[in-house]
Amino acid sequence: MSSPDLPEYVPGNVAIWTKTNAEYTDAAAERSWTRDEVTWGIWGIPETEVDVLGAVAGLDVVELGCGTAYFTAILAKQGAHPVGVDPTPAQLTTARRMQAETAIEFPLVEAAAEAVPLPDASFDLAISEYGASIWADPYRWIPEAARLLRPGGRLIFLRNSTTVTLCQALDGVTEQLQRPLRELRRIEWPDTGEVEFHLPIGELVDLLRESGFQLDRLLELYAPEGAETHSYYDFVTGEWARRWPAEELWVAHKTA
Ligand SMILES: C[S@@+](CC[C@H](N)C(=O)[O-])C[C@H]1O[C@@H](n2cnc3c(N)ncnc32)[C@H](O)[C@@H]1O
Repeated sequence: MSSPDLPEYVPGNVAIWTKTNAEYTDAAAERSWTRDEVTWGIWGIPETEVDVLGAVAGLDVVELGCGTAYFTAILAKQGAHPVGVDPTPAQLTTARRMQAETAIEFPLVEAAAEAVPLPDASFDLAISEYGASIWADPYRWIPEAARLLRPGGRLIFLRNSTTVTLCQALDGVTEQLQRPLRELRRIEWPDTGEVEFHLPIGELVDLLRESGFQLDRLLELYAPEGAETHSYYDFVTGEWARRWPAEELWVAHKTA
């Protein structure tokens, strides 16, 4: 998708996700849509272990950067009323195909998380599982999430950890720092052209507060004992992620 109001990096990231859809996520959706229970991250930490979501039945939920929408589909199976938002048409095509195959239906909206064409205060929960949380400018998508939520509504998002992002070289995560913390706000990967965002923790805490959120929890997720390296997301090994947390799960709520 393209629009004069959208940041300049959006079309390039959409092109990357169109390619990733053809290489991996379209085929992976067959299996990921069979899941009934929420798990978090590369190593599938069960929601029952971290207990961040609680019961979602009856909640209006928006997933910002829903991809093939397997995560949203799990929430729909649990009785939520979700909407999936994503700017990559190929990802939404896969999501629609899976909806037709499974008869699990919910609205899908083609849009970037920086400018979502949905009304103010219309959701109880905004989720991002490696969607807006890494692909959208946080100074645009976090205020947009606040706009979409009702007072008291929750924002839950998963992203790569700060440590992983500091230590990631082009061929994988190392045990050495690869870039200054000051350069994490916006990372342009020279090999693929991807543009990612990783606001340092202190700045993200401030941005959440300035956007009307109160931070409730910040969970640093390690790989479980014995975890193997993921077959596709192999930039970080299971061994590395047992020693340092590879992922961060953020939980906040809108104060007013
Ligand atoms: C790892 S996938 C999300 C996986 C998703 N949770 C699922 O259930 O399939 C990342 C998604 O972020 C989307 N994305 C890229 N730029 C975005 C933006 N500016 N706003 C929202 N989503 C974006 C991509 O199109 C891609 O589908």
